[in-house]
Amino acid sequence: MKRASRRPPPNESADSMSGTDTNGGGSGTGGGTSGSDAWNARYAEAAASDSSVWSLAPNGFIASIVADFAPGTAVDLACGEGRNALWLAQRGWQVTAVDFSAVAIEAGRRRADHLGLEVNWVVADVTGWVPPALVDLTVVAYLQLPATELASVIATCAGSLEPGGMLVLISHDIDNIARGVGGPQNPAVLTSVDSLRVAAADLEIERCEQLQRRVGDAMAIDTVLIARRA
Ligand SMILES: C[S@@+](CC[C@H](N)C(=O)[O-])C[C@H]1O[C@@H](n2cnc3c(N)ncnc32)[C@H](O)[C@@H]1O
Repeated sequence: MKRASRRPPPNESADSMSGTDTNGGGSGTGGGTSGSDAWNARYAEAAASDSSVWSLAPNGFIASIVADFAPGTAVDLACGEGRNALWLAQRGWQVTAVDFSAVAIEAGRRRADHLGLEVNWVVADVTGWVPPALVDLTVVAYLQLPATELASVIATCAGSLEPGGMLVLISHDIDNIARGVGGPQNPAVLTSVDSLRVAAADLEIERCEQLQRRVGDAMAIDTVLIARRA
């Protein structure tokens, strides 16, 4: 299996990575304590009006980082309608996309068929799912879970990477409640630099920091993590 070889981007400052991504991952109603039923209802409502909950474009941060990686095998955890998985597949990655919303997975499958892309779609709860083989890359965008559950998912991710494999994660930062816009307002499912550093302790952390994301005229605050398995 190939390793994810990463060329560091010329400028890794937070400013250079802050992109416009109005699809951060939460409107404030879909906190991590929501089960798959709530998410299914949200995705079904969008599908009924021939729309989608999230954009077709990949998350700006994930795209900016992964664009420099050599394609290999990847997992998109909590993929939603698959915007990041589809972008990876377009770039030659062999992707498994996992979400516990069967409605979101079906939407992703339809998009993939429309685009002529192959993605391995899996309906599963990521708190219990383990990839059948080690992978070169795992991406996680706005998975909203209580801290202990998220830490356990990150530990599983760490153990499921090939040596040299990368974890790229973005989530809503806890400071977003006071200083940012949008996103879930339940602090229990928000992250901090410290909580992600502890959760990813089994990996070599390349970056773990807050990142501002433009939402219209305002800014949302995310936490981002880039880490490598030794
Ligand atoms: C905010 S959305 C983000 C979707 C996608 N990552 C994106 O950026 O477009 C969060 C997603 O996490 C999924 N999710 C939440 N908890 C989950 C769990 N325990 N297992 C699997 N999926 C989960 C939801 O169904 C939802 O699709």
